[in-house]
Amino acid sequence: MSEKKQVTWGGRFSEGPADRMIRFGESVSFDQRLAPHDIRGSKAQARMLAHVGLITDREAKDICNGLDRIGEQVATGKFKWDPALEDVHMNIEQALTREVPAAAKLHTARSRNDQVATDMRLFFLDAARQVDEALVLLLKALLRQGERTRDIAIPGYTHLQRAQPVAMAHHFLAYMEMFGRDRERLAGFRERACVCPLGSGAIAGTTLPIDREFVARELGFVDKRGRPRVTRNSMDAVADRDLFIEFASCCSLVATHLSRVAEDLILWSSREFGFVRLPDAYTTGSSLMPQKKNPDSLELIRGKSAIIMGHVSALLTLVKGLPLTYNRDLQEDKPPVFDALDKTVDSLLVLEGALSGMEIERNNCARAVADPLLLATDLVDYLVRKGVAFREAHHVVGSLVALSEKSVCPLNVIPLDEAQKICDKIESDWTQCFSVRNALANRELPGMPGPKRIQAELRRWERSLAD
Ligand code: ARG
Repeated sequence: MSEKKQVTWGGRFSEGPADRMIRFGESVSFDQRLAPHDIRGSKAQARMLAHVGLITDREAKDICNGLDRIGEQVATGKFKWDPALEDVHMNIEQALTREVPAAAKLHTARSRNDQVATDMRLFFLDAARQVDEALVLLLKALLRQGERTRDIAIPGYTHLQRAQPVAMAHHFLAYMEMFGRDRERLAGFRERACVCPLGSGAIAGTTLPIDREFVARELGFVDKRGRPRVTRNSMDAVADRDLFIEFASCCSLVATHLSRVAEDLILWSSREFGFVRLPDAYTTGSSLMPQKKNPDSLELIRGKSAIIMGHVSALLTLVKGLPLTYNRDLQEDKPPVFDALDKTVDSLLVLEGALSGMEIERNNCARAVADPLLLATDLVDYLVRKGVAFREAHHVVGSLVALSEKSVCPLNVIPLDEAQKICDKIESDWTQCFSVRNALANRELPGMPGPKRIQAELRRWERSLAD
């Protein structure tokens, strides 16, 4: 018998795996991260086996105590991970069996296929909570900036061209809506993840009299009324990787939103816009140009979002051609989701920091929003109110803009008689249109940036983030 013979499944083999195969096939270097979930799952399994009489209570107790000791060693970095034992599951089981003879019974009615599926669902429930908590922190930072900028008007942009004035708070509230939907998506994901696959075995369950609901209850795979939830098809339970793809997709959408905020703040902090000043703690200098203060934190958020999105493609491609059920390809499913989680949470926290320390440059905002062209659309509305058809009103204001450009005269100081030559419906009260304050005050319908609306939205968010 070769010395390297694989201990857990080596029975039918005449020699152990080649060194290069060990290196190639191991996953323990990354799936050791699942250790706390694996231990939790194994404890539930042991208790269930005792509950149905497949092992004794004493054996279950010894197994659970042994698993707790291993948990300690893992947490303190004392546990010795061995790549020859492939993965987190076999590393833990082997270490346990050395200490506790009864551990040889732990794998009764279980396969690594339903074991890893269970570990990952426990991981996903925890991961979704982590992302959600970081989202709440970011939402609170956005809310604080929203409060501070309720009455700071800035140009809103389409095509990155000045469009219409909005309160800066309205801009922040827009992002809050997006991140709010991200939270809803994660809640839906959590709902689908909260189902127990243990008991599916390798592919077709087991002939032994296990109690799947017992394990589900032990591990918290229960519905709102505390009823256990178990997977309904053993082949689906070990083959599907929907949750992996869905989690990475949820992270991708968060990352997309983060990247857009980052991009806006990069623009706003540039000298060209100058709407905000970023905190030193989230910017860096140049090794050559002493005056530089670069928004690296935001650029990295934008950059890392690309990697997170790439993980969705990797996972979709990994799964799409696989025959049912488990194939070893699926071992590659973990690094992308681990990385998606880490990068998403880190990005959320970095943006939270950068945003919280950001100062608003009121004067620059005021200067930018003083551009009368931002109110050209309000002038169209003025003419509509005077009975001019919208298409005609649009044309009239277009002509006024052209006149202003040609005569190098700002739109709001075109002489009344000149304006009336273009449209006789224009009267001396047309200058009211050129007040940003009026423009915003006249937009109080749902979804609009009127000050009362914004105040109401800020209150609504405050309430919803308080619980
Ligand atoms: N490390 C493996 C993985 O993550 C565990 C499942 C192994 N199953 C098997 N049939 N070899 O995919």
